[in-house]
Amino acid sequence: MEIEKVSIRDFRNLRLVEQDFASGLNVIFGRNAQGKTNLLEALHMLVTGRSFRTRNEREIVPWNASGYTATVVRATVRRQGGTDLFHLAFNKTQKFVSVNGEALTRLGDLVGRLNAVLFTPADLQLVQGAPQQRRRFLDICLAQTSRLYLQALQRFDTALRQRNALLKMQHQRKNLAGEVAPYHEELAASGAIIMKQRSSALGELSELSRLYYTQIAGNNETLLVQYAPSVTCESLEEDAIRERIKNILERTLQEDRMRGVTSTGPHRDDFVFLLNEKDARDFASQGQQRTCVLALKLAELTFLAKHRGEPPILFLDDLLSELDAGRRTHLLNCLPENVQTFVTMTDREVISGRNAAAIFEMKNGDLKRID
Ligand SMILES: Nc1ncnc2c1ncn2[C@@H]1O[C@H](COP(=O)(O)OP(=O)(O)OP(=O)(O)O)[C@@H](O)[C@H]1O
Ligand SMILES: [Mg+2]
Repeated sequence: MEIEKVSIRDFRNLRLVEQDFASGLNVIFGRNAQGKTNLLEALHMLVTGRSFRTRNEREIVPWNASGYTATVVRATVRRQGGTDLFHLAFNKTQKFVSVNGEALTRLGDLVGRLNAVLFTPADLQLVQGAPQQRRRFLDICLAQTSRLYLQALQRFDTALRQRNALLKMQHQRKNLAGEVAPYHEELAASGAIIMKQRSSALGELSELSRLYYTQIAGNNETLLVQYAPSVTCESLEEDAIRERIKNILERTLQEDRMRGVTSTGPHRDDFVFLLNEKDARDFASQGQQRTCVLALKLAELTFLAKHRGEPPILFLDDLLSELDAGRRTHLLNCLPENVQTFVTMTDREVISGRNAAAIFEMKNGDLKRID
């Protein structure tokens, strides 16, 4: 997959960017605060319809743009078997998304049309942050490769909210066990699909991450990415998982009734990074943690390429910060040749050893090709 051409208007400090991009490695360099991350943010909005930096799109509207009407991102994206025209426009009150002229009514309909892997410095939170961030990573990865997963996730979420609502109203409920029973069926059925897919994806991602970690670090440290499900189950069969979730929901009903929330289930899943069998969150250095995340992101790329049948686009913001010279070089060598990659950096020298397909400079919101 490839972004051939983009037109961005009034996106933070980018007044107007009209640019063709190359296949392979696109390097965007520039000093701090010039608009490099803004550019990646704009391009990446085509993936989910949302910003990776803020939930509040009003923040993206330029501060002092005279004659402003809307923020617009248009892109021509080449994929196997065709070309798609993406159009995203919003201002403080409205939002509009279309693909090939067809308006999308729900942002969910955008999922899977443009596949991408994103790495930003904030992704260190994948190691350090709350389980919610790791689940989000898994969900976004799996939603891009499996409709079944996406639907199961939506079904699970709805049933969970209904069960929680009943738990909160428990005083008015004489027959709570009877009332929650259908939701337990639904949570168990959709939860089993979610857990099975998470478990198998993490198996693949762990193996790939281990290989990438070794390549980047260039030493004999071993990375393992391990699923830490909220509900443990000896069997990986969907039926067995379903029964297990159902049992646990029934067993914890009284407890949950006191708390007013559902305490166990895939919505409480997690995974851990084990570096030489030790939890990276507690024991790894900043550079090691960053390497763990990068290894997982490259693993995600390979995973998506395999399951989608074509490589996604790779966005790497501030890729090289906090890595020593050895890791930087190894990392640049790891970047797959056949993947369109956008890398931002402040220092052009560091890529001198690597053949970039195109080099751009971002200066005060203006993007110029300079190679
Ligand atoms: N809504 C907005 N309107 C106008 N300018 C904005 C808006 N939001 C952010 N900016 C400005 O955009 C500029 C560029 O930000 P960006 O994060 O893209 O910098 P960068 O080139 O990635 O820098 P760094 O190398 O430090 O990461 C910043 O000076 C920021 O203040
Ligand atoms: Mg930046």
